[in-house]
Amino acid sequence: MSALTLIETAKALVADDKGLLAMDESNPTCNKRFAALGIPQTHEARRAYRELIVTTPNLGECISGLILYDETIREAKKDGTPFLKIIVDAGIIPGIKVDTGAKDMAGHPGEKITEGLDGLRERLKEYAQMGARFAKWRAVITIGPGIPSRGCIEANAQALARYAALCQEAGLVPIIEPEVLMEGEHTMARCCEVTEEVLRTVFDEIYEQRVMLEGLILKPNMVLPGLACPQQEVVDVVADATVKCLLHAVPAAVPGIAFLSGGQSGELASARLDAMNVRFRKRLPWALAFSFARGIQQPAMEIWRGQETRVHLAQEALLYRAKCNRMARRGEYPAAMKGNSTASASRCDASSNLVSTN
Ligand code: G3H
Repeated sequence: MSALTLIETAKALVADDKGLLAMDESNPTCNKRFAALGIPQTHEARRAYRELIVTTPNLGECISGLILYDETIREAKKDGTPFLKIIVDAGIIPGIKVDTGAKDMAGHPGEKITEGLDGLRERLKEYAQMGARFAKWRAVITIGPGIPSRGCIEANAQALARYAALCQEAGLVPIIEPEVLMEGEHTMARCCEVTEEVLRTVFDEIYEQRVMLEGLILKPNMVLPGLACPQQEVVDVVADATVKCLLHAVPAAVPGIAFLSGGQSGELASARLDAMNVRFRKRLPWALAFSFARGIQQPAMEIWRGQETRVHLAQEALLYRAKCNRMARRGEYPAAMKGNSTASASRCDASSNLVSTN
């Protein structure tokens, strides 16, 4: 696979002010979110929900790439049309989550290490043959008393870099997701310190593993105070802290940074992305984009609740949040979209989704 193809795919994922929609929840995570809304936790319900997403009319106007899960990439519409065909026909690039989850890290109480490197070369080959053009791997870093440890940061950074090298070998653009979690009482300054250390370590390992910077996308958290921190910060302060942290740690050769939403409401995630682009877009080396799951999906899932009659309304809500984020990439979110938000389309029930267990 040529380097040029990787570079072109990475550029395409952040082109035209679009971004990514993560629909790569593992079955346990998807079931947990369904359970919170009284939706049956069955294979057919997951298939129907994912059909709702991939068949949303005009989704490709705002979404450049869809991140799928192993079950989903093999799935088809009720009439038998493969999801992959629907996605490609919509002008959207298909991608695949390839880690096998964050597990308790031996000797490191309260910390996680992401698994999935065993057999990864073969799995990537299969996904590439199926039509996937990028992949995703998520590492989880928790802030708490005495953590994160260097051992946890280094082990996760090395796994991310080894995954990224294997992806590029297979012709897939790696989405590199080191997520510093929002849960905790920590301040925004502490989140900034930890995020910078994590990102610096990740890019050191990426250099050691000979991963091409131009052929990857970084998917980080925004720099935020912990959810239980008494001092929460306004949108512009979060935007400034996040961009400053990224400028310290992310090489200019990286084409794009696509944030995770991490349990923020859809509105807040869009407003913060918008503020970053309003204030810094013209001066940054990389595109600031989005790769949200809950930040785009949550209102749609709440409207749908497993009812076929609500598919159309749910698709409108999904498209609405996708449009909001495209406007946020342009720094045009509040003026163009905020006044139009409907209660159902703008609300994200963060309380039921604070813990990301992708
Ligand atoms: O791994 C997590 C997803 O890719 C992003 O999910 O936007 O709900 O944090 P989120």
